[in-house]
Amino acid sequence: MPSPAEDLFDLGGAVALVTGASSGLGWRFAEVLAAQGARVVAGARRLDKLHDLVAAIRTGGGSAHAVRLDVTDRASITAAFDEAEAVFGPVGILVNNAGIAPQERVLEQSAETWRRVMETNLDAVWFCAQEGARRMVAADIEGSIINISSLLGLGVSRSLSAYAVAKAGVVQLTRAMALELAARGVRVNAIAPGYLLTDINRGYFESAAGARMIEKIPMKCIGAPADLDGTLLLLASRAARFMTGSVIVIDGGQGLGVD
Ligand SMILES: NC(=O)c1ccc[n+]([C@@H]2O[C@H](COP(=O)([O-])OP(=O)(O)OC[C@H]3O[C@@H](n4cnc5c(N)ncnc54)[C@H](OP(=O)(O)O)[C@@H]3O)[C@@H](O)[C@H]2O)c1
Repeated sequence: MPSPAEDLFDLGGAVALVTGASSGLGWRFAEVLAAQGARVVAGARRLDKLHDLVAAIRTGGGSAHAVRLDVTDRASITAAFDEAEAVFGPVGILVNNAGIAPQERVLEQSAETWRRVMETNLDAVWFCAQEGARRMVAADIEGSIINISSLLGLGVSRSLSAYAVAKAGVVQLTRAMALELAARGVRVNAIAPGYLLTDINRGYFESAAGARMIEKIPMKCIGAPADLDGTLLLLASRAARFMTGSVIVIDGGQGLGVD
């Protein structure tokens, strides 16, 4: 007899697609979803890393499949959904996680960097979510789309203006899509993490400036990818059956302001 918690968060039978699964948060998301019973399709450009992830999940008794995916290429996104469906069936859980964070000051900001950030961190989230939602509705399955925004979708930081604008766009996209898709059986929510140690910021947190930043966080530490496990499972599962359009901040209190 499963406990209420096991039953609520069980993902057995679900098919999940995680973008940007070759490192950091996406890697962790794929592992956690698979451990909860989902069959996971892991997408990114570095297929060698994805094969390592898939091998680790299978060793742990889970089901996973690697797919080469460049989220800035619409044909690649469509092909990834086609492959996911062919291997495991229609995707019911989509985690829009792929992202980049190049740093440039406003006065030096190049159009090339601005466009690359928008294409990867915002345009791709829209296209993946639209493609996923269309397929969920067509397959008549209750779906969950989880967009990875950022604390910088709600505030700003020096040298990350393009990133902050794109992540703010993800917040509004989440809410706009949630409103339209609520009656179609597709929930759309976002996670807005503060700093979690991954390849995207490892260099910064090894620097003196990074150490000073940690001192300003109310909890006096940065997080780890595992700190999102519970929220991911909440949003992916029937535990969040009545939640849509929510943006969940996980940041050690950083967004609260100056103390
Ligand atoms: N870590 C944090 O503190 C933090 C805080 C807030 C929000 N976030 C967000 O969390 C997400 C994951 O970041 P992370 O910290 O895990 O960074 P990461 O370790 O650098 O991982 C980024 C992932 O995105 C993938 N990616 C980048 N461009 C891609 C493209 N064009 N097509 C497909 N995949 C692409 C990368 O895979 P390939 O290079 O193999 O394609 C990689 O797997 C990002 O959206 C980031 O903005 C992170």
